[in-house]
Amino acid sequence: MGIHKVWVTLPDGAEIQAGELAFGRPMPDGTCRSAFRYSPEWLKKGFPLDPVSLPLSTGEFHASHLGPPLAAFDDALPDAWGRHLIDSEKQIPISKRLPERYLVEVGRGGLGAIGFGGPVKRNFEEARMHSMAELMDAARDVEKGVAAPDSAGLHKLFAVGASAGGARPKALVAHEGRHWIAKFPAYQDGPLNVPALEFASMVTAKKAGLDCPDVQLHSIGGRSVLFIERFDLTEKGRVHHLSFKSLCKERGGLLVGSYADLMAVVAKHSMRPEADTHALYRQAVFNMAIGNTDDHLKNFMMQGGPKGYCLAPAFDLVPDIARNLEHQLSVGGLRYPEKTAIAEFGARWCRDRELAEKVMQEVSVAVSGFKGELAATGVDMEAHARIYSDIDARLGVLAQRAASIPSSEASRLFDRAAEAAAAADGRARLAGGRELDR
Ligand SMILES: Nc1ncnc2c1ncn2[C@@H]1O[C@H](COP(=O)(O)OP(=O)(O)OP(=O)(O)O)[C@@H](O)[C@H]1O
Ligand SMILES: [Mg+2]
Repeated sequence: MGIHKVWVTLPDGAEIQAGELAFGRPMPDGTCRSAFRYSPEWLKKGFPLDPVSLPLSTGEFHASHLGPPLAAFDDALPDAWGRHLIDSEKQIPISKRLPERYLVEVGRGGLGAIGFGGPVKRNFEEARMHSMAELMDAARDVEKGVAAPDSAGLHKLFAVGASAGGARPKALVAHEGRHWIAKFPAYQDGPLNVPALEFASMVTAKKAGLDCPDVQLHSIGGRSVLFIERFDLTEKGRVHHLSFKSLCKERGGLLVGSYADLMAVVAKHSMRPEADTHALYRQAVFNMAIGNTDDHLKNFMMQGGPKGYCLAPAFDLVPDIARNLEHQLSVGGLRYPEKTAIAEFGARWCRDRELAEKVMQEVSVAVSGFKGELAATGVDMEAHARIYSDIDARLGVLAQRAASIPSSEASRLFDRAAEAAAAADGRARLAGGRELDR
């Protein structure tokens, strides 16, 4: 029901009003119209805030809520975790939980280069190492739904955690003169040490040749916390980024799709299409090998500026902690690793069959070191046996000689190996999601 200024902070620190974003009254069905137009200044000096949906033009762009073509602005808002935190701190009733409300709360303190509101910049706040334990306690209360609205812990967590994206508990933190996202253990993780698993996975990804941010694993009062260095900040300013949920606008905001959908966007809109299609292929192979089944469209981003867009570094690389078995994004129509389909996909997008095979081999060698990386974190390895057995099964499928293995046979092999791994702790689950009682 208002008009909001949209600001962009450039990498050199300059701040320019890029346009205006307007929201209509919520309709009886709960939907709400939104509209955007670029400012004359941005039309002269700026770049498209979404190369697919928001070309530089004088016209207005209309959407429902902040769906396509305005999803670039939704990317600048918090996801489930930050919204839950805002709801808890500000006691927002369900009927008022609309994008406009979160936009007002986040103002100019969100991730990425886009900010909203008046000319006064409210800097995002960052936690320090000494407050981690208190923030983790508060995060657990928020997750459990028992955080008292007036508690000091909730206020502190709100200040440093509300702008972050994603669903898992987290906060922004300054440490050793660098800026990080701190990812906490979640209440529902059970015996799994998810920060340690994500740390081992990110270290493995670097060894597999992926471009990933620096990570640190800290133990605070016996609880692990993962620090991931932010790639949306420069020394003086910010880097604009947007997710593939926005970029794949023809998917209408759905998070599932295929790696080919991402490739088509990268091939068309990246300023370095060859390097980025190769990098995305490597990441797809890595995800299939390590079991990063949570590979939805918000877990991939492009970064942009006046010179154009390129693939952002890889993040949120976690083995299959939720036992999904199937991936959100398919390769060759399949949502689990299958060597022939992956090789065909690589050959098509890298235009080089040998290179596609070589990448698969390099990634497999690196991922075979995952168990060692996890052991080096000091976690109880037995509690994580299901995870590395699953990875072994995946590596087994990728090691089959492509020509010697028909695809249907490969998928059966994978099902059998994955079932055997899951059976280790009493339950088995098939690729279709059916659970077997044992
Ligand atoms: N290193 C980084 N630098 C800048 N932004 C980042 C970085 N890592 C993640 N992000 C942003 O923060 C969001 C949340 O991060 P992440 O995906 O790791 O969290 P999550 O809670 O595990 O997500 P999910 O809901 O997919 O489980 C991402 O979608 C991305 O927009
Ligand atoms: Mg994520």
